[in-house]
Amino acid sequence: MSGGVLCINGPNLNLLGQREPSIYGSKSLAEIQQELEEMAAVDGIAIKFFQSNHEGDLIDRIHQARGDSEVIIINAGALSHYSIALHDALRAVAIPVIEVHLSNIYAREEFRHNSLIAPVAQGGIYGFGTLSYHLAFLAAGKILQENRKSNLS
Ligand code: DQA
Repeated sequence: MSGGVLCINGPNLNLLGQREPSIYGSKSLAEIQQELEEMAAVDGIAIKFFQSNHEGDLIDRIHQARGDSEVIIINAGALSHYSIALHDALRAVAIPVIEVHLSNIYAREEFRHNSLIAPVAQGGIYGFGTLSYHLAFLAAGKILQENRKSNLS
């Protein structure tokens, strides 16, 4: 489906629900996906999902977004902290980006304090567990609306 929101998840997020639940919660990525699909259905917004543990696959999907997505929600996992290639890919496609993290990366180890996604994102949401994704979706819906309005005028 063309247009709408693309939600990208990076390395290790396929293990959500099993992986360090005290930090990342007990919901699986499939459950989060279902919740977002329900929100999107209510709002009549198309939403697509992509998860990969491989940086190159994430980059390829970001490039593909030029033809099929209007807003990107991304939790790049650990790649957020060091992937110049993901930073460049997001910059290259020039689609509005919302950065998401389940945990509060600024309250954790120092190596998580820097994000290379943040400088190419319109904004970011972190620290609210699965609610971070919900809030990101609300922001994405607003961005979509605004962009569609300004494209009409
Ligand atoms: C994470 C935070 C990252 O530091 C970590 O490497 C992850 C998950 C989060 O959602 O809190 O994989 O992006």
